[in-house]
Amino acid sequence: MAGSFYSFLKKGVKKRLKKYYRALRGDHFDNAGAVTELDYTVLKEGIDEVKPTSYIEIGTGKGVSATHVFNYLQEHFPQCHFYTLEIFPQHYDAIREKYKTAKNFHALLGLSVTRDETTSPAHDELLNYKGPVNTLRKLLEEEFQGKKVDIAFIDSRKGSALAEFKLIEKHLSPKGIIFCHDILNRGKGVEVLIHLQQNKNRYDFDVLDTGPAGMIRIRLLSYSS
Ligand SMILES: C[S@@+](CC[C@H](N)C(=O)[O-])C[C@H]1O[C@@H](n2cnc3c(N)ncnc32)[C@H](O)[C@@H]1O
Repeated sequence: MAGSFYSFLKKGVKKRLKKYYRALRGDHFDNAGAVTELDYTVLKEGIDEVKPTSYIEIGTGKGVSATHVFNYLQEHFPQCHFYTLEIFPQHYDAIREKYKTAKNFHALLGLSVTRDETTSPAHDELLNYKGPVNTLRKLLEEEFQGKKVDIAFIDSRKGSALAEFKLIEKHLSPKGIIFCHDILNRGKGVEVLIHLQQNKNRYDFDVLDTGPAGMIRIRLLSYSS
């Protein structure tokens, strides 16, 4: 039925429904918490300290943090190679197009690990996922044989963050830092924090109040190459 009352009821519904349709298709991932200015302050402080030659971001999303951090790296550490991983082709295509002429910018498409390595909710959401898998594992095995990861920023999904953390730590440089977003909002950081707390003798870590989402900053205590 046409009419202004129904038009009003329909307003915004399409956008909200899209989210649920994506959930039904099994390829919906929430952007649980935006990266705040304080998150960037923390990331940049880590960058300045480590002076990275490699930076891996898991979870490109709309490319907000990738853009912010890559621009900072270009200005201050132009030799640094920046890798960003994304499961959604639309996000991957957009960031790849944006930085197609930047030789140190590497966009990768696919699930970071395998579905079997994930837990809920990622595991359930990936039920119908048919795209590439193991993007992070392949990157580390192929590109990080003779070099180490200086900084990693995990901003993917609850249920895949711990598997990603465990892979990255094996390739982390002695001075390296892993940042994990979404802890104070009970997001993906929770599974990582539980692991850190259960293995306190191996990690030096802080939970930082950078905003509603918060960040964990992690270093390895004992480093064996
Ligand atoms: C919170 S958003 C990232 C936001 C982004 N860092 C920004 O500031 O714009 C999470 C992104 O990670 C992607 N993602 C979730 N789990 C993933 C996984 N296991 N591997 C690759 N990408 C993943 C989602 O599709 C989503 O776009």
